Amino acid sequence: MLAFERPYGLVPTMGALHDGHLALIRRGRKENSTLIASIFVNPKQFGPNEDFDHYPKNTELDLNKLEKEGVDFVFLPSPDEMYPIGFATHIDPGRLAARLEGSHRDGHFRGVATVVTKLFSIFRPDVAYFGQKDFQQSLLIKNIALDLNLDVEIVVESTVRDGDGLALSSRNQYLSNKEQIAARVLYKSLSVAERVYKDGILSSDIIRNEVIEIIKAEPIAKIDYVSVCDVKTLIDIETIDRPAIVLVAARFGSTRLIDNIYLNCFN
Ligand code: PAJ
Repeated sequence: MLAFERPYGLVPTMGALHDGHLALIRRGRKENSTLIASIFVNPKQFGPNEDFDHYPKNTELDLNKLEKEGVDFVFLPSPDEMYPIGFATHIDPGRLAARLEGSHRDGHFRGVATVVTKLFSIFRPDVAYFGQKDFQQSLLIKNIALDLNLDVEIVVESTVRDGDGLALSSRNQYLSNKEQIAARVLYKSLSVAERVYKDGILSSDIIRNEVIEIIKAEPIAKIDYVSVCDVKTLIDIETIDRPAIVLVAARFGSTRLIDNIYLNCFN
């Protein structure tokens, strides 16, 4: 590929870069001789009623940020370059992709799996960096790398939050002031879940109900799901007797946000 030295690190993004993205970039910069970032708003992962047409774009600012972080190579393909006429092959990420986000966003993970697999084929990175905020995505990508022998290490970085706990997301730009304040309820509810668990409550039902009650107390928030599940299978569990994760998705006005917190995990 490039006349650069291995190891190659890859950070795939859809741009509108914030400190969450930059945390992946900084880790990748430290751990690799060559760091590649991609900016591509992937049409295949957006449903027909989603925000593809107005997804935030600020390429010039993004490129400045990446240059400042010492990224060696930025890949900025057009949709036609990624999906030329005749493009027909897609990656089906299997049953895990039908759960949680997949059940609310038809075809989303097929689109993610396809574009990420293409990026892996194009650059053959040694390591690729993803964020815990999109936990299900990172899990599916780990499975794809394993199942298809892609020989790439998948690193998952912790979620970067603002001072009020709100997970950084390019979509936070859509929130009104009032919605942004309301959206803090997600992390608040997850922090309570963690505290309840640390206080010795192992019942998923109790933890899940606490989270639901807290989010419901915020009148603007509309819950899509709250799940307390096994970190590997994403299947709901009754008791926190193995590494688990609480995953939430809720809408604030027309903006849909997701967040999560580990329970009983060492990372
Ligand atoms: P995007 O939403 O731009 O996110 C790019 C990467 O940044 C993802 O791995 C995501 O999990 C991570 N990220 C986003 N917000 C974060 C935060 N607050 N803290 C830490 N990491 C965060 O996710 C995608 O793009 C796309 O689906 C992509 C993988 C690029 C495929 O198109």
